This record gives sequence, structure tokens and C-alpha cells, in this order.
Amino acid sequence: MPTGSALSDAEFVVVANRLPVDLEKLPDGTQRWKRSPGGLVTALEPMLRSREGAWVGWPGLADAEVEPLVEDGLQLHPVMLSSQDVEEYYEGFSNGTLWPLYHDVVAPPAFHRHWWQSYVRVNQRFAEVVADVAAKGATVWVQDYQLQLLPAALRELRPDLRIGFFLHIPFPPTELFMQLPWRTRIVEGLLGADLVGFHTPGGARNFRWLATRLAGASPGHGRTEVVVDGRPVKLGAYPISIDSANLDRLSRTPEVLERAKQIRSDLGDPERVVLGVDRLDYTKGIDVRLRAFEELLVEGRIDSEDTVMIQLATPSRERVEHYQKMRNDIEQSVGRINGEYARVGHPAVHYLHQALPREELAAFFVAADVMLVTPLRDGMNLVAKEYVACRHDNGGALVLSEFAGAAIELKDAILVNPHDTDGVKNALHAALTLDPDEGRRRMRAMRRQVMGHDVDRWARSFLDALGLPPPEGSHS
Ligand code: ADP
Ligand code: F6P
Repeated sequence: MPTGSALSDAEFVVVANRLPVDLEKLPDGTQRWKRSPGGLVTALEPMLRSREGAWVGWPGLADAEVEPLVEDGLQLHPVMLSSQDVEEYYEGFSNGTLWPLYHDVVAPPAFHRHWWQSYVRVNQRFAEVVADVAAKGATVWVQDYQLQLLPAALRELRPDLRIGFFLHIPFPPTELFMQLPWRTRIVEGLLGADLVGFHTPGGARNFRWLATRLAGASPGHGRTEVVVDGRPVKLGAYPISIDSANLDRLSRTPEVLERAKQIRSDLGDPERVVLGVDRLDYTKGIDVRLRAFEELLVEGRIDSEDTVMIQLATPSRERVEHYQKMRNDIEQSVGRINGEYARVGHPAVHYLHQALPREELAAFFVAADVMLVTPLRDGMNLVAKEYVACRHDNGGALVLSEFAGAAIELKDAILVNPHDTDGVKNALHAALTLDPDEGRRRMRAMRRQVMGHDVDRWARSFLDALGLPPPEGSHS
């Protein structure tokens, strides 16, 4: 766990809303660090450790004043958020306005001026911390939708820096973005970067259109550049990935293989295990897959005696209203399905509202015959790639939403439209009855993609485009 020490003059700085570790207050009043939730940390942590950079972010607790510290060679620079900042900047503007707006308004976004003002203030505070930490001419890589004003705010304070920005969630269609009362400020904020990266070419295209319409940017070289005040800003698509080789290795260890067997035996050795793994978020379509599973049971197309479902859900954004409602709905559905189809000691759906260690997750992936990834909209979805990386046996089947960024790369998954309940039911049924040779062919093809395009390759392609040389000792 981290040890204290004051640091600065970093040549390479990652800035994200959260640090890779969260400070947690225990009931006895003591505090401890735990891994932060979400795909951003999964993706960036291994890359940053190999570069010995600095990470600037919030330690995850309101009003926590924490000194800079070093953890395993990684400098951590905490940014303090008051409880009002948490309410207005994080839960409010980031997760009550931007998150639903950028995810196809699957829940209605709320537009509140005091939330926006807090977003402006907190982005400015992040800029001041980074300006203190970064060495002259350093490279700063800003992450995600919570910090879209940071590139311009930082350029104002430190014009010597090389600044990249990557958006981990979808960039919305222009018609939806135009609803945002502060749309021009956001676009101008992002244009403070030298390179703005998205998961998909569509996201980069949408942003390019908005940059010219709203911020007076003019076309630059080709379609991957715009010019703002005489300064070129590159735009591009960089689909994020996972530490594939490490996860593949972990999934082959005797401990994980043994644990996977144990999980199946604890479930009563059913013929088929169906798995969902998500942050508990309304964009993830957990309700969609529960409905499909329930209707297949009702119609007698599957039998709870031989087919069980497991849903693992990391607690997330628990004070935001949409999340509270969704949690209630999901827990009611699980209760209803089990009320009808479980017997004592043999639930039809196992539901864990818990964050699990990586080894345990890998064992679940190895144990699952069918992985259900059914978001209504998702920037990438790393869980889909993690499942594939764990199936070194070429076994298992992946049912994947067309509206996850991962669907562009994982074309051999069983692709579904999550809005089409019958389609999801048929896809789940097809996955449960898939011809084994066909299943292995699909998994082999997906593994070629995931093993060949890992998070290191993603980071290198972004940082190459930004003009940062590879770390010392790298063979690339
Ligand atoms: P998001 O970034 O929206 O949370 P991703 O699918 O891209 O979605 O990333 C989620 C990350 O969180 C993955 O690395 C996944 O393994 C991890 N995760 C999801 N659910 C759990 C859980 N119950 N316990 C531990 N880790 C989890
Ligand atoms: O990109 C997805 C993301 O929103 C990250 O920015 C974030 O760190 C992660 O999901 C988890 O969400 P939160 O930080 O709000 O718990």
C-alpha cells in the first residue's frame, strides 16, 4: 500500500478523475486503500507502471486531504474534492448530465447551471495540480469525460506541455451533443489538447464536425486534423484494450483452474453456466439479459435444473438517483425469477453486488459457458475482451451487444441488438446450444484479435501519435 512522500517534476503525467486506488473509510473509523472501479483503471494502470509516471486524481472520498505518495514506483497526486464538489461535479454534471447524454440518453440527462459551475471549478483545480506536478515540456495525458475542460485550462497555465486527451466513453451523435447548454465550452476545452482520441472513427468524426461548427476550427491535413488559432489538433480512433497476455497467463494457473471447477461444483455442476460481469450501471443492460433469461425459463426453452445464471455487479455511483432505481429493479427481477424457478439450495440466478479480486473474476470467466455482455451503449466494454483472454481452451461463447465499442473488433461474437428482447433470447439460446466446433472457431478468431491488440499497443499508438518516445528498455 502507498507510502507518503512529496514529489513533482514528472516527465509523463496521467490525469483522471480517480486515482487507481480509492481511499475507503471503514466502520471503525480507520481508512484503507483499495483498487478503484471501472475499465479506465484496468487499462491504464499496467501501462503507467511500466513508464514510472505520475497519476493525478481524486482519492475517492469527499473532503479527504491526502499528501502525494508513491505506490510501487508510481507517483500518486491526490486532488481534494469537497462533499459539494462530489455532489455537483462528480455525481451531478459528470454522472447526471454527461454520462446519460453521451450514452444515447438511455436515461434523461439533467441540465443544472450550478452543476456546470462546479465542473468548471473542479477542472480548473485539476489543471493547477497538474501544472505543479509536470516537468518543463512534459507530456500530460488527460482521461475521460469528467475532465473535458482540462486540456484548455492546462494549456493556459502551461503552454510548454504536450497534452493528449482520451475519451473512454462514446462520443455522442451531434444532434444529442447539441442539447448541451455548454456545448461550445466543452469543445473548446477539448481543443486545448494536441491530440484528442476516441474509441471509434464515428466519435472522431462527430467531434470534428462540432469543432468546425462551434469553435471555428478549420480543416487541417486530411480528416484527422483540425486547426484552431493556427495550432494543429489531431483527432483519431484508438480502441482501448486489456493486458491480454497477463490475463491469459492468470487464467491458466492451477489456482484459477481449480477455483473454476469449484465454482461449478458449488453451483451443483449444472450443464450450462451463463455469466454477466459489470459495474452496476443502467447502460450495461443487466435488465435486458435478466428479462431474456426469465422469458426462456417461462417458455420452457431452458430449464433452471441444468442452466444457471450468475450476475456479478460492482457497486457504482450509489447516490445517483438512476442508479438507485436500477439497483432496485434488478434486485426485484432476481428475486422474482428465483421465487418462481429456484429450489432450496439451488437458485436460478446468483447475484453478487460485490467487487471481486482479479483471480476470482478470471475463475468465473473460465467457468462460464456463455458470457452475456448486453449494454445499450458502451464506449468499449473491457469485460468482453477479458472473457476472451481467459478462454485459452477456445471454449465458451460470447453474446455481445452491437452497441458496445468492442463489437467492431469482436465480429465473431454472437452479436445482438439489446433493444430487441426476442433477439437477445434467441442469441442466448443459440449460445447455449452452439455447435462446439463452431464455438471454437469463433473463440479462436476473437482470441487472435484480443491477444494481438492489447492495452500496451493501444497506449503506444496513442502516445506515438502524440509524439512521445517509447519508454526506455522498450523493444517497440
Ligand atoms: P466500465 O469502464 O464502464 O466500468 P468496462 O467493462 O470497460 O466498463 O470495465 C469494467 C472493469 O471492471 C473490467 O476490468 C471488469 O473486470 C471490472 N469489473 C466489473 N465487475 C467487477 C466485479 N464485480 N468485481 C471486480 N471487477 C469488476
Ligand atoms: O470510462 C468509464 C468510467 O466512467 C471511468 O471514467 C471511471 O473511472 C469508471 O468508469 C468507474 O466509474 P466511477 O469512477 O464513477 O466509479
